[in-house]
Amino acid sequence: MKTVIYEKYGSFDELKILEIKKPTPQEDEVLVSIKANSINKANLLLLQGKPLMIRLFYGLKGPKNQTPVGDFSGIIESVGKNVNIFKVGDEVFAESSTSGVFADYAVLKEKHIVLKPKSLSHQKTSALPLAGQTALQALRDSGKLKSGQQVLIYGASGGVGTYAIQIAKAMGAHVTAVCSKRNHEHARMSKADVILDYNLASDLSCISQYDLILGVNGYQKLSYYQKHLKKGGIYVCVGGDGRQIAQAMLQGPIRGLFTRKTFKSLVAKNNANDTEVLAQMADQGLITPFIDSVFTMNDVQKAYQHYASGNALGKVIITHESI
Ligand SMILES: NC(=O)c1ccc[n+]([C@@H]2O[C@H](COP(=O)([O-])OP(=O)(O)OC[C@H]3O[C@@H](n4cnc5c(N)ncnc54)[C@H](OP(=O)(O)O)[C@@H]3O)[C@@H](O)[C@H]2O)c1
Repeated sequence: MKTVIYEKYGSFDELKILEIKKPTPQEDEVLVSIKANSINKANLLLLQGKPLMIRLFYGLKGPKNQTPVGDFSGIIESVGKNVNIFKVGDEVFAESSTSGVFADYAVLKEKHIVLKPKSLSHQKTSALPLAGQTALQALRDSGKLKSGQQVLIYGASGGVGTYAIQIAKAMGAHVTAVCSKRNHEHARMSKADVILDYNLASDLSCISQYDLILGVNGYQKLSYYQKHLKKGGIYVCVGGDGRQIAQAMLQGPIRGLFTRKTFKSLVAKNNANDTEVLAQMADQGLITPFIDSVFTMNDVQKAYQHYASGNALGKVIITHESI
């Protein structure tokens, strides 16, 4: 079988394709024939080994896990003798945090996988796990979102942002989405109530007061978000510019002491329960992934490069089927 591999931290040319022996599942594992992967920011950071702090967890001298981990969708080809939930032929998906999945086959523990939504293709399904779980946890757990509340999603056009709009709408919120003009169509299709362009001062002047603000992409000072939170409101920093993340982590808890507002930073937790919630929402038509482009595994360098360029309108997919 073919697998993507990078032996050193670095740029796209470290990504190589290798022919290796197909793995055999252990007693509590399944062997999955991978049909598609989606690329997330985490894949880029793990390839670069940046920020340096991540090397403490993922390998000081070089990547411990040389085949990229992350989002996949595929079909079970064989099962270990203690596997009892899944069977050969089941279509499954997940975010794998430990097993490399950017390969034709991968072995995974059965407790880490979930049945694929019936209504989505493998390519669309592979675009769900990491970004979808992040959006769900930001709104439901960190943001404590309730029906009828006003939500601002700043940087609403990427993987996380488009799911955040759709999940917030499904939870009954009124959603204001901030993203560049070129992405307004996705925000409209995600059913945002108000869509603003962060490049237009006239649009930004429409930003009012919110029960919940998600800082997903780009940069605004924490004081800006504080100004636009209602009393008792919650700001959740999901990502964006390094300054946005640093300010939320360092200043957020202090600001919270002196205002009737809460400032949080999210570290999304990969778990099968939330992946299953996403599958159900997809089958109910409440969330749909937006795909920008599909690359074959042989073009993995081009796929990463395209994702990193910031030009993608939707998720970048790697397929293991012929296109
Ligand atoms: N906390 C966690 O556990 C967690 C988990 C997953 C991801 N993240 C982080 O969340 C962030 C979003 O991830 P993602 O998967 O959605 O990324 P993505 O799919 O790569 O989205 C990038 C988007 O950022 C937008 N953008 C660029 N400059 C912007 C600006 N100045 N203001 C507002 N938007 C801007 C771009 O859209 P426009 O063309 O519209 O600007 C682009 O579509 C990343 O920083 C990622 O590292 C955090």
